Amino acid sequence: MDLQGKRLVVGMTGGIACYKVCELARRLQDEGAAVTAVMTAAAQQFVTAITMQALTGRPVYTDQWGAQGGAVGNAMPHIELSRQADAIVVAPATAHFIAKTALGLADDLLSTLVVARNCPLLVAPAMNVEMWNNAATQRNVERLRADGVQLLGPASGEQACGEVGAGRMLEPQELLEEIVAFFQPKVLRGRRVLITAGPTFEPIDPVRGITNLSSGKMGFALARAAYEAGAEVTLIAGPTSLASPRGVCRIDVRTAREMFDEVMARAARAQVFIAVAAVADWRVANASAAKIKKRKDAPPPALELVPNPDILASVAALPGAPYCVGFAAETDDVIANAQAKRAAKGVPLVIANRAQDAFGADDNELHLVDAHGVTTLARAGKLAQARRIVAEIARRIGP
Ligand code: C5P
Repeated sequence: MDLQGKRLVVGMTGGIACYKVCELARRLQDEGAAVTAVMTAAAQQFVTAITMQALTGRPVYTDQWGAQGGAVGNAMPHIELSRQADAIVVAPATAHFIAKTALGLADDLLSTLVVARNCPLLVAPAMNVEMWNNAATQRNVERLRADGVQLLGPASGEQACGEVGAGRMLEPQELLEEIVAFFQPKVLRGRRVLITAGPTFEPIDPVRGITNLSSGKMGFALARAAYEAGAEVTLIAGPTSLASPRGVCRIDVRTAREMFDEVMARAARAQVFIAVAAVADWRVANASAAKIKKRKDAPPPALELVPNPDILASVAALPGAPYCVGFAAETDDVIANAQAKRAAKGVPLVIANRAQDAFGADDNELHLVDAHGVTTLARAGKLAQARRIVAEIARRIGP
């Protein structure tokens, strides 16, 4: 429950994306938030107040005049609603709402409450691409950013990987991730974090290969947690079917050497490098370009293995290396092995766990091994662990 105890005002303005905010209201509550909906007249053309009341289980506010929908405190909802909220999320936010907010206009309940707020404001634009690209809209959006308003999306454009913008509202799941991220402490704000995750795949022939059971979940959780903490995150991922965490620049690779190349191209710019990938120790030197045929009386193919480069040790050896964090999955002597690995790779921090527990699991117990000793992070889900690791790294690298 990532929003346990949070009180959110969800402001809806007039756009078809209102139907997606019905779903968002549900998901916010699934994470523990209490949601109060405020709807403009235009929003009610798309979804009714009854719908939102049923979905949130609370009165819906549509009017600044009088005590409609159940009075809030002193019956001044434009003041009271934001006093009781941890944040106001306006979704969908029309070009018109953004323009009004940029100017500080207050001519209905939602805009008045936004001007009167003393809590953070998050805005999820939803509009046609031409409206989004319109010079006035862009000017207004800049104004909002300068005023400290957090923009959520719109879909596309803002990703470092380079899609181009269209003005479509983020999907409910994406908005949820952004809202959860908003409440996480920004302990890595502005830091560049490079992460490897997942297994690698070393081909034997075009259809076969050597790989391992790494799911990528821990590395992906760390990428998400680092993004939530305000970092600029690049995730170099081996073959996995996991969805990319929001806001993270993901580069897919297959082999250890591809992973090595992508990491080395970026390591000098990073302040933190977290090697979570289960990199294959060896690759097949005599991989076949054609599928190897199974023949009845022929012996099995003899695979000639050669070592892969050690990505973590290579980054740690760079002059001005980023703060390097390794992972160690061991079946036995977990701590002793992690200490040895820390020394062998020349890295300040190794995070150890039991291989039997770690691979593919959704939660695990972790041991942080550094020059000062061992810190154990009690068993928890991988995202919770990732957030703790991010906090531990931030504490170690300092401001
Ligand atoms: O050497 P070993 O595989 O036991 O070390 C594990 C740690 O080293 C992990 O952090 C892993 O991501 C990293 N590693 C690497 N490149 C390799 C092998 C391991 O970056 N070729």
